[in-house]
Amino acid sequence: LASKKLVVANWKMHGNLMRNQQLIQAYLPALAACTRAEVVVCVPYPYLAQIQTLLTGTSVAWGAQNVAKYEEGAYTGEVGAQMLTDFGARYVIIGHSERSTAYCESDENIAEKFMMAKRHGLTPILCVGETLLEREAGVMERVVGKQLETIIRLFGGEAFAGSIVSYEPIWAIGTGLAATSEQAVAMHQFIRESVAASDKTAADTLKILYGGSVNPQNAVQLLNQKEIDGALVGRCSLDAEQFIKICQAVP
Ligand code: G3H
Repeated sequence: LASKKLVVANWKMHGNLMRNQQLIQAYLPALAACTRAEVVVCVPYPYLAQIQTLLTGTSVAWGAQNVAKYEEGAYTGEVGAQMLTDFGARYVIIGHSERSTAYCESDENIAEKFMMAKRHGLTPILCVGETLLEREAGVMERVVGKQLETIIRLFGGEAFAGSIVSYEPIWAIGTGLAATSEQAVAMHQFIRESVAASDKTAADTLKILYGGSVNPQNAVQLLNQKEIDGALVGRCSLDAEQFIKICQAVP
């Protein structure tokens, strides 16, 4: 892909007003100089206004970590796509395994959220990935294929045009045990082929990130693979020095 590689920070449920400000101030000078990478920061909902203030006019974009599948209405505790765009968000993480596991999100729910984000001009970052048991059983492609298939079945392969898929093997998230670049590349190829089988043009404009224990050391090799269009970074995004090094690892 001709476009820049993308590094997305997922702060998960971390931060407070003071720490967020310190972290962004520590990120910014180095990220402004790091023109090879496109950088996005996904924050908890209550900090969208703060992040909008801190990042407006910089090269760093921002987003949220979830969105409602509904437009609006009596859905206590939910946050709609329009509310995210009101705060300048351009991206939203969809179907992260920490949500699908803890809150039993189905593939259908995730597909509806994906489309809701698109309808509002947000770029969805769809997380897919297998458990360790599934990898050991050799069924990881079947698992990831099914996650993609639900969107293709409900909305067609064209839904993936200009979207982002993040391959996040569940066994690699927060464990310190990242996938090898061979494992990641193989799955990234499978993901692009699966989308291409339904819509070739969409597959050509799809970005595929890797997520799961990305750190400054493994980022160099991962981000140098042509099949890997970027990284989704959890823990190391909470440390400015490490996050900057990951962004600088983009070739
Ligand atoms: O969204 C990020 C992924 O869950 C990876 O998290 O970098 O802490 O392993 P991690």
